Amino acid sequence: MEGSVSLDRLVRERRVLITVGAGGVGKTTTAAALALAAAREGRNVLCLTIDPARRLAQSLGLEEMGAEAVTVDASVFARANIEVKGSLTAAMLDTKRTFDDLIVKHSSSKEKAERLLNNKLYKYISASLAGTQEYMAMEKLVEVKADPRWDLVVLDTPPTANALDFLDAPERLIGMLDSAAMKWFQDAFESSGKFSLNILAKGASAVLKGIGKLTGGGLLEAMAELISELNELFGGFKERARHVEKTLRSPDVAFVLVTSPSPPSIKEVLYFADRLAEANMPRGAFVVNRMRRAPAFSGDVTTADAQKGIDARALALEDGAAERLAEAHGDATKMAALDARNVQAITAAATGGVPVVRVAERATDVHDVAMLADLGEVLVRGGDL
Ligand SMILES: Nc1ncnc2c1ncn2[C@@H]1O[C@H](COP(=O)(O)OP(=O)(O)OP(=O)(O)O)[C@@H](O)[C@H]1O
Ligand SMILES: [Mg+2]
Repeated sequence: MEGSVSLDRLVRERRVLITVGAGGVGKTTTAAALALAAAREGRNVLCLTIDPARRLAQSLGLEEMGAEAVTVDASVFARANIEVKGSLTAAMLDTKRTFDDLIVKHSSSKEKAERLLNNKLYKYISASLAGTQEYMAMEKLVEVKADPRWDLVVLDTPPTANALDFLDAPERLIGMLDSAAMKWFQDAFESSGKFSLNILAKGASAVLKGIGKLTGGGLLEAMAELISELNELFGGFKERARHVEKTLRSPDVAFVLVTSPSPPSIKEVLYFADRLAEANMPRGAFVVNRMRRAPAFSGDVTTADAQKGIDARALALEDGAAERLAEAHGDATKMAALDARNVQAITAAATGGVPVVRVAERATDVHDVAMLADLGEVLVRGGDL
């Protein structure tokens, strides 16, 4: 198709790839596989992951993986017989630390930054407020994109229940910090110097519900202080959010929309694709992961056919095996056809030359370098189905 850009080209040419999609569809795995594929092509790649499956991290020799970037040792690839011309470095997104760095960068003085960082509400917000993780993933991206060590940054995204949370995160976080309720708190504090129970009764409960985990004395003071100091940084934060958005719109960025063949996750990824289009953000490719493969022979198989196969291989199977085999063959054929049919909704929506890459379900989870390399190859050659 005209204007079509294969995943292979995206991997070789873009500066940033971002995997997005519903929970559990294979975002982290796809990010790692694409990162490895790019490293094999000779690029120096940073893969910023979020909570990678332990076995995957281990297989890359990254047991201790933390916020510090760890470059995968060449011996790991050599042992698996995989030629890697560039390099693969992985790091885990550390939400709190990214937020801390941002505070330090935007505070007018060291003392102010210190005060904010030690504010106990800040500690809660930076670690667990909804949306913070997504926003900080974006922040980190802006930071590493400017780092000349990386030819390519592959960003994995958090397992949000709804992929849209991710796009909305900067705005939501700022909205939350800037909300009327927060302002009210601030005003209440500033006018009297401290909160009165009377004022509290008027409507703080909704706000407090959101931070219900925090108990003990000094909560309100901590909150007032936090709001007033964050407000000072707001100019900075708003600007940041705009900068993050601009970064995402840049032509050297591409989103890789990952989905399973199940209708709910397809629906979500299509919705997300629409949002990207609306926001003028570049859709790079759809990856339909874990598609069930049709058996090698996908016509009808009778019990007699199955029995013939069993006999030909001189297999000693229990009674009824031929029936069950024929039935399993029929089921597998149907499942594969169902997945293929579900994907039609994506091919219909993938206008403008956005490739749709179909990846078959593996027999096991993707847990070693060889499997990751294989998946990477499959992705860049346009799928294996
Ligand atoms: N094609 C595949 N075949 C078999 N297993 C797969 C395939 N792709 C991914 N997996 C396995 O599925 C599991 C979930 O994958 P992954 O962690 O990449 O999903 P995710 O979208 O990042 O999840 P989360 O939303 O929780 O972050 C992992 O155990 C992974 O090894
Ligand atoms: Mg993940």
